[in-house]
Amino acid sequence: MKTSIITSLVALAISVGAAPLDISGGKLSLQLNIDLNQAGFGGNNDLFHFTSTHFIHAAPEFVVNGTTPTGGLAGALGLFNFGINSHANMICYNITLHNFQGDFSSPASSATHIHEAAVGASGPPRISFPNPVRFNDDPAVLRSVGCLTGPFATGLVMEGKDTGEGFHISQIEKNPAGFFADTHSSLALPGAVRGQIA
Ligand SMILES: *[C@@H]1O[C@H](CO)[C@@H](O)[C@H](O)[C@H]1NC(C)=O
Ligand SMILES: *[C@@H]1O[C@H](CO)[C@@H](O)[C@H](O)[C@H]1NC(C)=O
Repeated sequence: MKTSIITSLVALAISVGAAPLDISGGKLSLQLNIDLNQAGFGGNNDLFHFTSTHFIHAAPEFVVNGTTPTGGLAGALGLFNFGINSHANMICYNITLHNFQGDFSSPASSATHIHEAAVGASGPPRISFPNPVRFNDDPAVLRSVGCLTGPFATGLVMEGKDTGEGFHISQIEKNPAGFFADTHSSLALPGAVRGQIA
């Protein structure tokens, strides 16, 4: 239904733009002032509305096992870009890895996660993202792009339940310092790169 409203508004805007109704002589004037952006239809970045965005640089030196630094995967780097919509319990991601080596490896359903833990500490994954894959001629650059909506599942069961069970995306906005993004390699099981959300 929304689609048909958008379509007719766009059609209206286009037809008015193409053939402005201005019969000044006949004293008929029609003024249309539809702000498609303000209405939330179309417009540059309005297809999805984010309540917050997060741009995280992930590096090997932030990886820990427990609280012990492991050094991660030397030479690797990650850019974890997130758009969150707390009302929709949705997270959109654009994750790019440079110089990842080994195989993605984790007991969860993927090896690319948001975990719940403060800087310097380890904690359970709350979201599993599809692992980045090659997307152009450069084998050293991997990417994963998409959106996930709760309820979440990580595929990792701890204390009898999936570590994503009951997690709501608003928890990240309430305490961004309490979460980090990472990815795990067979050459660096505790983590290849890691970056705190805040
Ligand atoms: C993902 O981010 C990269 C920059 O890190 C950008 O070049 C690319 O266009 C983004 N992809 C999407 C689908 O937004
Ligand atoms: C983390 O450290 C513990 C204790 O030293 C060890 O048993 C475990 O294998 C390590 N985990 C990883 C993923 O390397």
